[in-house]
Order: sequence, then structure tokens, then C-alpha cells
Amino acid sequence: MPKIRIGLIGYGGIGRVHAAAYRAIPFHYGLPADSIQIAGVATSRAETAARAAKEIGCDFHSADYHELLARADIDAVDICTPNNSHHAIVAAAAAAGKHIYCEKPLAMNVVEAESMAQAVHSAGVKAQMTFNFRFFPAILRARQLVDAGFLGRVFSFRGRYHRSSYISSEKPMSWRLRRAITGGGALFDLGSHILDLLYCLLGDFAEVNATLDTLIKERPSAAGAAEKTPVDVDDIALLQARLADGALGTVEISRMGTGATNDLTFEIFGDRGAIRWALDDPAWLYAFDLRDADSPLGGERGFRKIEAVGRFAGGKAPDPSMTPDFMRVHAECQYQFIRSIWDDKPTSPSFDDGLHIQRIMDAAERSSKRGAWVRLNDD
Ligand SMILES: NC(=O)c1ccc[n+]([C@@H]2O[C@H](COP(=O)([O-])OP(=O)(O)OC[C@H]3O[C@@H](n4cnc5c(N)ncnc54)[C@H](O)[C@@H]3O)[C@@H](O)[C@H]2O)c1
Repeated sequence: MPKIRIGLIGYGGIGRVHAAAYRAIPFHYGLPADSIQIAGVATSRAETAARAAKEIGCDFHSADYHELLARADIDAVDICTPNNSHHAIVAAAAAAGKHIYCEKPLAMNVVEAESMAQAVHSAGVKAQMTFNFRFFPAILRARQLVDAGFLGRVFSFRGRYHRSSYISSEKPMSWRLRRAITGGGALFDLGSHILDLLYCLLGDFAEVNATLDTLIKERPSAAGAAEKTPVDVDDIALLQARLADGALGTVEISRMGTGATNDLTFEIFGDRGAIRWALDDPAWLYAFDLRDADSPLGGERGFRKIEAVGRFAGGKAPDPSMTPDFMRVHAECQYQFIRSIWDDKPTSPSFDDGLHIQRIMDAAERSSKRGAWVRLNDD
């Protein structure tokens, strides 16, 4: 397998996680240490780029990602920058013939996302989204069960992603609260994750009826500042959704869930069975099988805890009985991207998947403005 040399673009909160995960992949899969290398890093400022290169242990750093793209010793770029830069970086990286790994949400809007999906198809490069939560073994097991017909006809579903990250009105403005940089608020930031989990398990969404709101409408312009700046993105989004196959569900997304750290969970109800999963108990998939024997005292019926734990296919360490964590599933998501380059196979989740999520979020915003159900592909 040829060495894969990564150019990391953006080295903030998640860039550091990706960097650590690349370094961990050889340990997880028993690969040579130099099979995956971060060969260069670009951030928005020369000092932060130089500091990032020191932490990562790479020689090349720049405040201009075009310099990274111009290098022959970069095979793939990993985009860990705020949402408003994803489109331009993807366009330039595809034109430079680099494989692309891009953080969620794919883009600021559907128009950008469509052009990004088109650009990577035309360039013939591998392109994958970071929808890391898909890679918990319990989710991979849930997909197997759904594909095998375990649920039967899906009646309905419930998804939720609550965090409490913005409950203080003293929390100052940041890029995540500015539409011009994010494209959307909690819906884009947290919603893209829970919507992708439901989509990867259940398939395409057809229409949504959503209400979005901004609960704290202005915040200090900077930490401790008296001056306030208006917040122009949602911090809560409540969706009803109908899937292409007719199943109906609700999805709650909020940054204002007091007491919630990372409360991401879903339940899916079918005519043969049901499944549940929660991010704060990620080792287990809960599954109910209606074919289990019933009796006056309950027989063998009930939700069963399926032992998915850390069973990553081909994983060498940690022992597969260990509980998986945030960093481990980022490593898995990145490893699958690299495998798609090594094995020349399609990526998953692809940019087309990212585009579908963008369409759902766009329909939710339009629905909230109109106060009506909106179909994904209508104007
Ligand atoms: N999948 C996940 O678990 C997860 C978690 C957090 C963030 N994210 C996503 O990752 C992205 C980055 O979020 P973050 O929290 O790391 O942001 P951050 O603000 O912590 O870091 C952003 C980084 O991007 C750099 N940057 C900004 N503009 C740039 C440009 N034009 N060229 C080069 N570098 C540039 C900054 O210098 C900084 O290093 C966002 O799209 C966000 O939605 C995903």
C-alpha cells in the first residue's frame, strides 16, 4: 500500500482530533508508522500554522492552503475549517487532483453542496464526509440489522441531539453563531450529525415540517464586552419528517438542553422489531424482536443489549471488548477514507450523502419560515 500523505487544513478543535486520529490508525490496524503521514498543515495565520506543524511533527506549514495544494508530496487534504471555507477549498483541491476528506456540514447551502459533489465527481478524486458517529460498531450493527429486515416495515422514528453549550447568555459571539460563517446554527452543527445517522439507517428524507428559533437573540461581542451582537442563527430546531418510504418521525436539535453534554439518541419502531442507541452509552445497541416468544409473564420479550462494544472490523488494538470513544470513531471514519484510496473503492459517507443532509437542513429552514411542510427538492 502506498504511503498516504495528508495536508491538514485547519488546526482548531477538530483539526487536532483528526491529527491525533491519523497517528493512531497504524496502532489500531497494525500498519507501518509511516503508512499515513501528515505532510503539511495550513491554518489562517502563519503563527498558528507554525505551532500546528510543531505539534504534529511535520515540516511544511502555511497560512495559505493553496501552497499546500500545490505540493506534489500531498495526496489528500483534510478540511477542518469553518463551514464558509469548505466550498472554495474543495473546488481548489479537486482542481489540484487531491483526494478530499471534509468536515460536516458539507457546505453553507445546497447550491454550494451541489457544486462540490459535482467537482469531486468530475475530478475523479475520492471524497468523503466526516460523519464520525456512523462508525460506532453499534451503528454498523444497526445498519446490518436494518438491511437484513430486522425492523420490518418502519412505522416511525425519533432522533434527538441536545447539548447545553450555549445556555449562558454571557457566552460571547463566535463563528458558530454567525450565519455568514456557518450557514446555519444548531441545525447545521448538531443537526447534520443526527440527521445523517437517521439517513444512513433509514434512507432518503422526502419532506419536513420544522420550527427553528433563536432563544438568546444577542450576545456579548467578545468575552466580557458590554457591547452586544445579534445572533442570526437558530439554537433550537424541532423537525417532523417523512421519509421517501413514508415513515414518519421527529428530530429535536438544541444547543440549549440544560444538563445535556452530548445527548444524541434515536429510536426506530418497525412492525417486526425496534432499535435504540444513545451516544452516552455507545457500546450497546438496544434491539427488540417481536418474534421473541411472549407469555403471560413476558416470555423472552424485551429490549436486548447487543454487545457491539469496540468490534471494529480488522482492528488490532484496543481489544475489541473495550468501549469505543469519540477519537476512536474519528480514526475509523478517516481509516475508511484512506482504505477507499488504497482499495480504489467508493467512499462512504460520500459528498452525495453530505448533499442530501444539506437538502434536509435547507428544507427545514424553508419550512420554519413558511410554517408549512416543505418537500426537499421544491423551491
Ligand atoms: N465531526 C465532528 O465531530 C466535529 C466537531 C467539531 C467541529 N466540526 C466541524 O469542523 C469544522 C471546524 O470546526 P472547529 O471547531 O475545529 O473550528 P475552530 O475554530 O476550532 O478551528 C478552525 C481552524 O480553521 C482554520 N482556518 C479558518 N479559515 C481558514 C482558511 N481559509 N484556510 C486555512 N485555515 C483556516 C483556523 O485557523 C483554525 O485552525 C467545522 O466545519 C465544524 O462544523 C466537526
